[in-house]
Amino acid sequence: MSIFDQVIDRRNTNSYKWDKYSDANVIPVWVADMDFKAAPPILKALQKVTEHGIFGYSGCPDELNEVVMERLRTRHGWDVKKEWIVWLPGLVPGIGLSIRTVAKEEEAIMMTTPVYHPFMLETRAAGRLLQKVPLLFENNRWTIDFDALEASITPQTKLFLLCNPHNPGGTVFTKEEQEKLLQICLKHSIIICSDEIHCDLILDTTKKHVSIATLSPEAEQSTITLLAPSKTFNIAGLGCSMAIIPNDELRTNFLKTKAGLMPMLSAYSYEAALAAYRDGAVWHEELLVYLRQNHQFLLNEVNQLKGMKMMPLEATYLAWIDTRETGIENFAQKLEEVGVGVSDGIQFDGEGFIRLNFACPRTTLEQVIRRIKSLF
Ligand SMILES: Cc1ncc(COP(=O)(O)O)c(C=O)c1O
Repeated sequence: MSIFDQVIDRRNTNSYKWDKYSDANVIPVWVADMDFKAAPPILKALQKVTEHGIFGYSGCPDELNEVVMERLRTRHGWDVKKEWIVWLPGLVPGIGLSIRTVAKEEEAIMMTTPVYHPFMLETRAAGRLLQKVPLLFENNRWTIDFDALEASITPQTKLFLLCNPHNPGGTVFTKEEQEKLLQICLKHSIIICSDEIHCDLILDTTKKHVSIATLSPEAEQSTITLLAPSKTFNIAGLGCSMAIIPNDELRTNFLKTKAGLMPMLSAYSYEAALAAYRDGAVWHEELLVYLRQNHQFLLNEVNQLKGMKMMPLEATYLAWIDTRETGIENFAQKLEEVGVGVSDGIQFDGEGFIRLNFACPRTTLEQVIRRIKSLF
């Protein structure tokens, strides 16, 4: 038995994921949070905060900045200065702030699609122009169509939103791919906002995460890197993320945009992040083993179903499954009717696809598979 085999009832806990469906029969495998209890060191740290019993305003513990800098040095090969780190109550707010900081209203934000839908929603919400470049499916993976990308650039294009590893494509962009992207962006004076929230969820052990900011001093000066412990350690509800902005002017402008709009982070957020990064390594390794097994299991099962096509993911616990050849219309809706709540690909700009979150106990995943099979 793995600790991740434990089935925990999340219904009626106001869980965004589990309480979405009024039909209690539906197993939710949509939004990206995991059905696993957080690592014991995190639970202990949160208990300590509760026991102290005073919940005034909090600053970031020095040790957390130190731990983050050490982590980036060892895992990303990146020497980050403390003043470059801007703590945020979520990563999506970092996307919204980057959009508003870098581009004016008549200017444009570019991204490859399909993509994590808040990239598009935040751009629209900010009233900026949205420029979409379709991802290219090549050699069994989703990659960037560099010619199409460069051809889509206009004088209005000011920011490129990169999702690496990619949600929902599951791609870990290589150093070479990112070099190409960087050269194009530098040539056209486009700032890159790199959302790397899934960087510690690499499933393919032959792949290594590379932060685009580490490619050169110029890259460092023209990027905003967004990171968080939230996906890896399943603490998304605690709201703790960071933007790393080495460029002083860009960071000053980002802070101006942020002023008065973002709440301070709580002691719970900081202490959970600290415990995760400082003491969560063993749990994290075990999690990856479990996720890789779930991934393999799902891959084998799904690809046996007529017309269903799931590509192996390089990273993330979000399977991106092509249902277009099944002959079944409105696949996500049909699945809901048999008790499986997936994300409909259409919201990511991937019509005919579904996104399935497999970060759940194996028995739950087996049940999900049985229900999917009932459609065939
Ligand atoms: C690529 C990506 N960015 C950001 C987020 C969410 O970040 P937050 O909840 O901290 O705003 C997610 C969640 O699924 C994600 O997949």
